Amino acid sequence: MIMPKDVLKDEEEEVEVADGKTKVTIFFGTQTGTAEGFSKALAEEIKARYEKAVVKVVDLDDYAADDDQYEEKLKKETLAFFMLATYGDGEPTDNAARFYKWFTEGNEGRGTWLQHLTYGVFALGNRQYEHFNKIGKVVDEGLSEKGAKRLVTIGLGDDDQSIEDDFSAWKETLWPELDQLLRDEDDSNTVSTPYTAAILEYRVVIHDPSVTSSYDNINVANGNAVFDIHHPCRVNVAVQKELHKPESDRSCIHLEFDISGTGITYETGDHVGVYAENCDETIEEAGRLLGQNLDLLFSLHTDKEDGSSLGGSLQPPFPGPCTLRAALACYADLLNPPRKAALVALAAHATEPSQAERLKFLSSPQGKDEYSKWVVGSQRSLLEVMAEFPSAKPPLGVFFAAVAPRLQPRYYSISSSPRFAPQKVHVTCALVYGPTPTGRIHKGVCSTWMKNAISLEKSQDCSWAPIFIRQSNFKLPVDHSIPIIMVGPGTGLAPFRGFLQERYVLKEDGVQLGPALLFFGCRNRRMDYIYEDELNNFVEQGSLSELIVAFSREGAEKEYVQHKIMDKAAQLWSLISQGGYLYVCGDAKGMARDVHRTLHTVVQQQENVDTTKAEAIVKKLQMDGRYLRDVW
Ligand code: 2AM
Repeated sequence: MIMPKDVLKDEEEEVEVADGKTKVTIFFGTQTGTAEGFSKALAEEIKARYEKAVVKVVDLDDYAADDDQYEEKLKKETLAFFMLATYGDGEPTDNAARFYKWFTEGNEGRGTWLQHLTYGVFALGNRQYEHFNKIGKVVDEGLSEKGAKRLVTIGLGDDDQSIEDDFSAWKETLWPELDQLLRDEDDSNTVSTPYTAAILEYRVVIHDPSVTSSYDNINVANGNAVFDIHHPCRVNVAVQKELHKPESDRSCIHLEFDISGTGITYETGDHVGVYAENCDETIEEAGRLLGQNLDLLFSLHTDKEDGSSLGGSLQPPFPGPCTLRAALACYADLLNPPRKAALVALAAHATEPSQAERLKFLSSPQGKDEYSKWVVGSQRSLLEVMAEFPSAKPPLGVFFAAVAPRLQPRYYSISSSPRFAPQKVHVTCALVYGPTPTGRIHKGVCSTWMKNAISLEKSQDCSWAPIFIRQSNFKLPVDHSIPIIMVGPGTGLAPFRGFLQERYVLKEDGVQLGPALLFFGCRNRRMDYIYEDELNNFVEQGSLSELIVAFSREGAEKEYVQHKIMDKAAQLWSLISQGGYLYVCGDAKGMARDVHRTLHTVVQQQENVDTTKAEAIVKKLQMDGRYLRDVW
């Protein structure tokens, strides 16, 4: 599969800004494409409103090759916007990580060296998480501390509600300020003229069926390239098995990707990004709703090389001819609730006026509550929404540009160690399967793909997927004699299986290991106690000193990992006090939050200190990299 880079790289070093024009730079830190999409939309709107604006949208990673360049180039910016998503445990997105590290650590004590810069920040995050919009907030504060002038109050986008509405509201605060800076006396556009974004559209070329589909002609340079999100590597599924016991009514899959001969390397604790495909049932439904034949062979084009006819650098999701079946399988997010922009595009193609009206209403500011309830609250998928408006059959060029977002890779904490399994990347994945408020059964794209994957053990014609490795800082201490405490219920066990495999090999090699405690949690021993035998083996061999399991649905009372932690508070704190590391992996919103609170209680009790002091101690552990979290 060929994965072209989504963003056009800025080839020129500097934008030539003609006399009387003002350069505006919009930086984005994006993980799933939302911040990038918003940046492009903001750029279009600024261009449409202000004739004197020359706007550039820039991927923070592409902006500078090293720290010096960040400094050198930022010194030349005068007006900039930062659209920054916060990801995982209050972390920057992959493409903003280098910038963020430099920005927060690399230029301390420099004083107000950014005085020439005027800026605005829109942050993207989710209020359900502990570090809501941390990255945007830190950059907003940091810029101000460095002397830059804040043009507008930071916008706090909350994806738990409607982030598009938050973005619109933030823009409304921006225009009066930008008017002061960018409006010419004779500008014909006035602030009161509402701006309507053009609906993006690719030009579609239909091909003769004899042409080879670029999807069939998979061209992946295994063996020598550097693999990343834009250049994944095709790998086979070597092993696939169910981890839950027969009595369980849920499913958890153990999958092994074969990376031999690919050049892929990884470290224990890293993540793997997996591009899965939509299942047949979803693809067929989409084909039906679009009124198109799935065997249709087509390609998508922007009229100009840089995609400027589309009002931005929108690159087609695939480079050559592709069947509609493959395009829907690999490139279209069909099961998430549609964004408002998608509803606008659907409305424009609804032939039934009442349907067009309702779609317009749902996407309008007046329809905010209805959108929130009917689309987001009901978890209506894009396909479900399309089924409700059958007259809206957008052409493929509109569908792929404006209706269906690009299907994103899913990340998993790798559950193996390269020391133990050098040719394999193991994944432990809980099947996402359950009813939504409308009665639809939601099946997670990637977990369903893994559930249905055929392994090389079963057939030569095995399943494969494009994957890439994402490094993490969730790592074992370099000194193996340091004690470790691992907390990972459910699939939160994944990276610890890797840790334990690593320790297993080290121990076999005669390395002296420090104590290791594992707190694992599941519902019931007879159902979802995953990797039970392996864990017992680790204990027997000595790579795991103690295995403590909380079964939440065996007794009358719920028993969770944090209850077990409280039972062992003295032992746990003694290990940490000896320099031990504490690791937590799993669900961020419930488990990790509760464990975090429990840790405060443990510190308070064991150290006999008040809340403030306990907080400071926990914070210090985090700063020292001895309390690490891999949460989602
Ligand atoms: P439950 O489903 O019975 O509530 C793995 O998913 C295990 O984590 C399950 O036993 C689950 O219990 C438990 N779990 C759910 N919420 C939790 C929380 N907030 N803290 C700790 N464990 C939790």
